[in-house]
Amino acid sequence: MKTIGFIGVGELALYTIKGVRRGGYTGSILLSPRNHEKAEFLALQHGCEVRADNQSVVSNSDYVVIATRPADCLATLSALEFRDGQVLISVVAGIEVEKLRSVLPTDLKIVRAMPVSSAEASSSPTLIYPANEYAEAFFDYCGNSIVVDNEAYFTQGSVLACVYCWFFTLFEELIQATQGPDLPPALSSKLVMGMAKAAAELALTKVETPAEIVEGIATEGTFSKLGLDLLKQQEAFKPWREACELLQQRLVAND
Ligand SMILES: NC(=O)c1ccc[n+]([C@@H]2O[C@H](COP(=O)([O-])OP(=O)(O)OC[C@H]3O[C@@H](n4cnc5c(N)ncnc54)[C@H](OP(=O)(O)O)[C@@H]3O)[C@@H](O)[C@H]2O)c1
Repeated sequence: MKTIGFIGVGELALYTIKGVRRGGYTGSILLSPRNHEKAEFLALQHGCEVRADNQSVVSNSDYVVIATRPADCLATLSALEFRDGQVLISVVAGIEVEKLRSVLPTDLKIVRAMPVSSAEASSSPTLIYPANEYAEAFFDYCGNSIVVDNEAYFTQGSVLACVYCWFFTLFEELIQATQGPDLPPALSSKLVMGMAKAAAELALTKVETPAEIVEGIATEGTFSKLGLDLLKQQEAFKPWREACELLQQRLVAND
């Protein structure tokens, strides 16, 4: 089995490694030493090995994941030496392959991936660009890999990795709005998350679009339509669209 090494052991490394181990990945995982507490935790609890420095991670890995924050990415990569046949997997948002390539050997294979924190619960829909057998299999251990052959799709798709985060705020808002004397908070939470999961699961199995599903549910005279009409009247969905557009611009501007 191949060895994978992580440069940058922060939140992403933590949830991804927890997720792949939970999913049964048994391969060797090497870690950079900075952020010692997290690296030690992963070493003790999830069978990883903390190396002395970044170069030692790279020199002993077949696949190298760069998982620093965007601002640290290029400087960190430019200090490393890669050998023939290695693959760099960048999970760094907003830095395209061409920009990564500017500080890397011209023949190094580069793959981008965007796992989200539901990896920890084995359910990250992980965007991958371009196809790479090992990367796809690795991220399948913590959810499902979604491969795209066009970097523009990856960039636009990355916006949805942020929308994923906004869903939690929406969940919290709905919990606060529905809990009270008639509905205990724990039950409200269970129902909010349960309904969100149920809607996503139905939409994923149906051939109809989400808009068509709504049309079939929120028919004239229903309580669903009453609430939906109010949301539309207040233009509640407009800022979501605007927030997506803002991120799309920023993700491209970062390139
Ligand atoms: N978190 C998410 O939900 C998420 C989702 C999708 C993609 N991403 C991408 O994943 C990347 C990492 O995000 P994160 O949330 O894990 O960030 P993070 O928690 O801040 O972790 C980044 C880690 O990299 C370390 N680091 C910085 N420079 C380094 C170097 N030269 N060598 C070794 N380690 C170095 C940092 O150490 P110091 O703290 O000491 O600087 C920190 O421990 C980001 O580029 C982000 O765009 C994150």
